[in-house]
Amino acid sequence: MILSEMVGAIMKILIILGTRPEAIKLAPLINVLKNNTNYDIKVCSTDQHKEMILQVLNIFDIKIDIHLNIMKVNQTLADITSLAVTKLYDVIGEYKPNLVIVQGDTTTAFVGALSAFYHKVPVAHLEAGLRTYNIFSPFPEEANRKFISQIASYHFAPTEKSYNNLINEQIKENVYITGNSVIDALLYTSKYVETNKSLLDKLSAEYPFVHSEKKLILLTSHRRENHGSGLENICKAVKEIACRDDVNIVFPVHPNPNVRKTVYSYLSDINNIFLIEPLDYISFTFMLKKAYLVLTDSGGVQEEAPTLGKPVIVLRDTTEREEAVAAGTAILAGTECDNIIKETNILLDNKNIYDKMANAVNPYGTGDTCNIIVDIIKSKESSLC
Ligand code: UD1
Ligand code: UDP
Repeated sequence: MILSEMVGAIMKILIILGTRPEAIKLAPLINVLKNNTNYDIKVCSTDQHKEMILQVLNIFDIKIDIHLNIMKVNQTLADITSLAVTKLYDVIGEYKPNLVIVQGDTTTAFVGALSAFYHKVPVAHLEAGLRTYNIFSPFPEEANRKFISQIASYHFAPTEKSYNNLINEQIKENVYITGNSVIDALLYTSKYVETNKSLLDKLSAEYPFVHSEKKLILLTSHRRENHGSGLENICKAVKEIACRDDVNIVFPVHPNPNVRKTVYSYLSDINNIFLIEPLDYISFTFMLKKAYLVLTDSGGVQEEAPTLGKPVIVLRDTTEREEAVAAGTAILAGTECDNIIKETNILLDNKNIYDKMANAVNPYGTGDTCNIIVDIIKSKESSLC
């Protein structure tokens, strides 16, 4: 039976995802939408990330209806784009959704929106309006999200700043401020970690360094524009920071071969640096709770950490998350070795500065984003069906 014959006149929504952050940020929305019996919801994964996506969906108990299996080791942007566009075009042609939902700025999100556009199916875009206004940073994400904004019919901006970016680009219809659904996801896993004693015991036994007197630094880095000298500088800085005898550093290393090669060549065999495999989202939430501070080039981690009161040092030269810097929850340190060391030492040594950052208010929302978005979708039903 083809998908389009499975349902009658109820609204059909196709949710497209492919990478870890899309899965985390769409999972709570999928679950709220699935509670609504008026909708037929299908979830399609390009599988741009093969293993990391499953680490998320299992936690939120989400089943993928359509797997596209595109991931290759060390894939190029052209690999992802070309493989995904043909397959997504066919999926949309067959299922004939009333609405396609994409999230963020990955190549999966861009190609998902493009494939829907080719079928003239309206697109709703979560996390719309983030901009650095530097087309090469982050690369290719800045271009991806700008392309999506041109095609989408509904724009869910996380903050007033991202809303204003869209308005200033003359994208004025159906633009809403909703917060970021990552906070909905994080509050779910955070509660799960707090209330599940056997899980806490298991994770504590698996990562005994979380109980050390030393301050725990949680590090993540994977961005394409940091591959090469940027990541090398980050590793050199981290190696220097590890010379302090009051810190432990934990680094769940992204599976990208370009990342792993550099990280393992600089940071292996240092007794207070723990290089570990990517954590499932619950274990990552546990680690974030145990951390004293966070060093990261990840977008999602910048948004999450302040909800748990953890200051963030951003390992990037530009940020589309200026609200975090303005709110005082994050510092943009760049990728120069000396600056990363300087900013980290300040936070480790100056309790006043640390406390100010730890207590600043997270600008990305309070966990009600998915309900807000579903209410908007409901209000649009008559024009979508
Ligand atoms: C992608 C997104 C980036 C997002 C990031 C989140 C693009 C162009 N990039 O970058 O915006 O911030 O995901 O993590 O959309 N790999 C595995 N298993 C996995 C996942 C990845 O082995 O589960 C390896 C593969 O060798 C793959 C490589 O990592 O080829 C790179 O994956 P890719 O999605 O191209 O790049 P990311 O850096 O993950
Ligand atoms: N994350 C995770 N396990 C890890 C590292 C990160 O579950 O080992 C989560 C993190 O909490 C955040 C998301 O993955 O929600 C960020 O994904 P990533 O850094 O891959 O992408 P970005 O946010 O930079 O697009």
